Amino acid sequence: MKKVIDQITEIMTSAFVECGYDNKFGMVTVSNRPDLCQYQCNGALAAAKQYKKAPIMIANEVLEKCKDNEMFAEITAIMPGFINITVKSEFLVDYLSKMAQDDRFGCDLPENPLTIVVDYGGPNVAKPLHVGHLRPAIIGESVKRIARFAGHNVIGDAHLGDWGLQMGLIITELKKRKPELCYFDESFEGEYPTEAPFTIAELEEIYPYANAYSKEHPEFKEEARQATVILQSGKNKGYTALWNHILNVSVTDLKKNYDNLNVHFDLWKKESDAQPYVPAMVEDMKKNGYARISEGALVVDVKEETDTKEMPPCMILKSDGGTLYNTTDLATLIERMKLFNPDSIIYVVDKRQELYFETVFRCARKTKIVPDTTKLTFLGFGTMNGKDGKPFKTRDGGVMRLENLISSINEEVYKKIMSNREMDESEARSIAKTVGLAALKYGDLSNQAAKDYVFDVDRFTSFEGDTGPYILYTMVRIKSILAKYKDVTGKDVTSDVKISMGEARERGKSEVDLMLIAAKFNDMIDTAAKENAPHKVCAYIYDLANAFNGFYHENKIIAEEDKTKQAEWIALIVLVLRLLECCIDLLAFEAPDRM
Ligand code: ARG
Repeated sequence: MKKVIDQITEIMTSAFVECGYDNKFGMVTVSNRPDLCQYQCNGALAAAKQYKKAPIMIANEVLEKCKDNEMFAEITAIMPGFINITVKSEFLVDYLSKMAQDDRFGCDLPENPLTIVVDYGGPNVAKPLHVGHLRPAIIGESVKRIARFAGHNVIGDAHLGDWGLQMGLIITELKKRKPELCYFDESFEGEYPTEAPFTIAELEEIYPYANAYSKEHPEFKEEARQATVILQSGKNKGYTALWNHILNVSVTDLKKNYDNLNVHFDLWKKESDAQPYVPAMVEDMKKNGYARISEGALVVDVKEETDTKEMPPCMILKSDGGTLYNTTDLATLIERMKLFNPDSIIYVVDKRQELYFETVFRCARKTKIVPDTTKLTFLGFGTMNGKDGKPFKTRDGGVMRLENLISSINEEVYKKIMSNREMDESEARSIAKTVGLAALKYGDLSNQAAKDYVFDVDRFTSFEGDTGPYILYTMVRIKSILAKYKDVTGKDVTSDVKISMGEARERGKSEVDLMLIAAKFNDMIDTAAKENAPHKVCAYIYDLANAFNGFYHENKIIAEEDKTKQAEWIALIVLVLRLLECCIDLLAFEAPDRM
């Protein structure tokens, strides 16, 4: 469906053209004075300069051509030359009726759907998920869902970190603790056990221990480094078998944790999967003269003449021949091009890695790993800070595990629910889990991703203001009105989406406001998808929820005597509920039936 704003722009554009002015002056924007009008066109002011005429004269001429258009309830030219526009509520009624009959609520499918890979989450094997993993998971999941809803073919990849020193550290520490394990016996000929020689709890204890220990003991670190090289060479069967155990135990646990966050990857590719592409990639870079040797290392220069900042070369191989994070990301690009030939790859990664990704992207273009037709986007996110403005930590200054963070927010919501009303303990716990997740995600997603934000449990869990619980509370309120309506009339309207929005009649301001915001859904989706911006979805549902609550407080829906009007109101709020449901699904959280 054509966006409301585009329909108005079309009318204005032809009016300008009919008067002999350039069509670009017909552009319309949402009014920045909603008390005066809904939309505005400032083209006459711009045209005045080009045509050397008073803006108000131009505005009046244009108005003559379009003032009788049946879409407008009111259109006026005001000094010095603004055109203020308000659309007829019958137009909105008709628009919303069409939206209600479409499961995509008026969002057209793209003519050419794109194939998009979203690289997000980025967990590392054997390291517990901590708060640093929260943002890439939450933002990436939402970016993926928005792009998919916009009609693209989207693949979300966890890009598991399994290729670093952490593997060598764990193997070396295990060897120290349990040297008798068959994995360390080089003469072992049998089948390795299918059961891992450790639990996830042990694994999670081993890694931080070994990591801290290696910092104090250089000889241990050296041993771990060597173990990593041996593992990566693939020549030690025992190490490879252990590595597989580490991977399995870890991924099982990661999946559980991501499930709890309602984050679901389509692919669980690993850094190690890209390694087979490395030798040919290196050969190619050398052969085509892209790479040069610098102090023993193999590098590709990516500096451009126009650079004002320092641009380090992209290192492909260390002087000892070892590969790096860069090498893996470039090889992963080769793999992604081969498997999916995507039109776009979006990296949802900590913004502190921005320069790194710029180097990698430039190197990928220069070496022709990625063609110009594939867009590479770095979607960097800021830090989640504590109330002291510093990166969020536990009370004793440690890194907070994600599970603990989630429990703390659920506990807070639970207390709020219990203080509001009597409820069965287990029901309250389950509702708290649903609402807690919404509080956490909305608290994060409502900020522009690149910005840092303060994690504030009290604010995030508040049932009032720009919060997840407020949105859910609004949805629960609509559900309860619909349940009452069903009790009174026997009509279950939630399943009957074709109910009519109504005919011409007097409508209050709060009703029109609600209709107007609802009608902006397709416009909002379009922007959110183009800009990979979940915060636009949040801003929209906050406006929609506020508009609904304004409408709710002004009208007694259930007590309304005029039954036609009541049915129209019900149809409107059913649509509002469906829009809210669709949006929270894009943000990847859910609403309870009551709270
Ligand atoms: N595992 C990495 C980390 O913990 C994040 C991976 C980001 N994605 C990528 N393609 N490099 O920092």
